Amino acid sequence: MTRIIWHGHLTFTIQHDGVTLLIDPFFDGNPAAKISKDDVKPDYILITHGHGDHVGDTVYIAKKTGATVISNFEIATWLQNQGVEKVHPMHIGGSHAFPFGRVKLTIAHHGSILPDGSYGGNPAGLLLTLGDVKIYDAGDTALTYDMTLLADEGVDVAILPIGDNFTMGPDDAVKAVKFIKPKVVIPAHYNTWDLIAQDPYAFKARVEKETDAKCVVLDVEGAYEL
Ligand code: NI
Ligand code: MN
Repeated sequence: MTRIIWHGHLTFTIQHDGVTLLIDPFFDGNPAAKISKDDVKPDYILITHGHGDHVGDTVYIAKKTGATVISNFEIATWLQNQGVEKVHPMHIGGSHAFPFGRVKLTIAHHGSILPDGSYGGNPAGLLLTLGDVKIYDAGDTALTYDMTLLADEGVDVAILPIGDNFTMGPDDAVKAVKFIKPKVVIPAHYNTWDLIAQDPYAFKARVEKETDAKCVVLDVEGAYEL
């Protein structure tokens, strides 16, 4: 069984066969968060890009739990300089088979500067293959025609930003669903602040009217199982 838990913003836990993955752990300073950085015990932390609302509490959680952090090379190097011991650097287009499954970093159009101004490399999305389940987390990104490449992957669940302003908004996210053709869409990166306020149910209605995908709107700390 695979379980996807939304912690607000683009912070997700994915549990699969007894392994816990934590993506973009943003708890401190996240107005949408209902749990704290001390409530999570990941085996691995995956980071899409260097922005503070994605790197978030990675250093604290990695040091406390001993989790291995998977990210692009620049962020992995920065984390090592912060004293994080276990990192696995990757880069866009590369994939690696971890004990829990395969991770591939995909193209995202966005920025990636780190909280202290260090260069964070290129932002990425994540394509996760966990047993026979494929999950695509777009990260922070614009709509990109490169997403059409994912239609061949048989994505089960696509996590897409819909907040607008910093990332795709709902109109482009509906187009992304048409490009990716996932079975299920989970909207994220919205309603954290007023600037990215969106109605996820209006998005869900459009997705389910205009595409074959089902849209699952999670409450914060809500879970979707497949
Ligand atoms: Ni960002
Ligand atoms: Mn962001």
